[in-house]
Amino acid sequence: MATNITWHPSLSRHERNQLRGQKGFTIWFTGLSASGKSTVATALEQHLLHLGLAAYRLDGDNVRFGLNKDLGFSEKDRNENIRRIAEAMKQVAKLFADSATIAITSFISPYRADRKIARDLHATASPAGDDPLPFIEVYVDVPLEVAESRDPKGLYKKARAGEIKEFTGISAPYEAPENPEITIRTDQLSVEDCVRKITEYLVEKGLIT
Ligand code: PPS
Repeated sequence: MATNITWHPSLSRHERNQLRGQKGFTIWFTGLSASGKSTVATALEQHLLHLGLAAYRLDGDNVRFGLNKDLGFSEKDRNENIRRIAEAMKQVAKLFADSATIAITSFISPYRADRKIARDLHATASPAGDDPLPFIEVYVDVPLEVAESRDPKGLYKKARAGEIKEFTGISAPYEAPENPEITIRTDQLSVEDCVRKITEYLVEKGLIT
């Protein structure tokens, strides 16, 4: 821990939001592999950009190519994967609050405790005493059979054959959220309807106009 450092106050988050005309917050997608997280998150990012809002998305496969390339899929490594992402996204959402951008994540994030860490990190007050950053958990809910029948990367087939160990939903747990802000059923709603449901929520909560 560094000593002899001082927090330099700047504009408050509220003042920055006012000046930029946009709030900073995190939209956290969670769900099984092939549930539709990345598809809906990408469509949401594009929709928000088309509305003239700045948004930026991080997703599991991509982060595992870089920042978290040293991590596998054991429980310990998944915990660390989500911990690092939560910390990064909190910083990103915080910086984005200043630069007026919405942070969107799409990670399986199968453990409730890890998602709670991400949520709690956002709720922590900054040294400047700013308001907590809003954290919107979106549960991409599809039955395992549906995700497995999609199998776009052939991973479920490999997991069933025992070629991939600790595969979420097959040989590793997925703990569904108990109180997500939003639940979307991608087997019942179109991608556009899912995006509409999320944006309606954001408008209703005053996060976007
Ligand atoms: S986690 O659980 O949040 O740490 O996973 P995440 O970082 O989102 O990475 C999920 C993507 O990794 C691929 N993959 C696996 N997923 C689950 N279990 C195992 N064992 C596994 N091995 C590789 C897979 O492409 C996941 O992407 P999505 O888009 O979810 O299908």
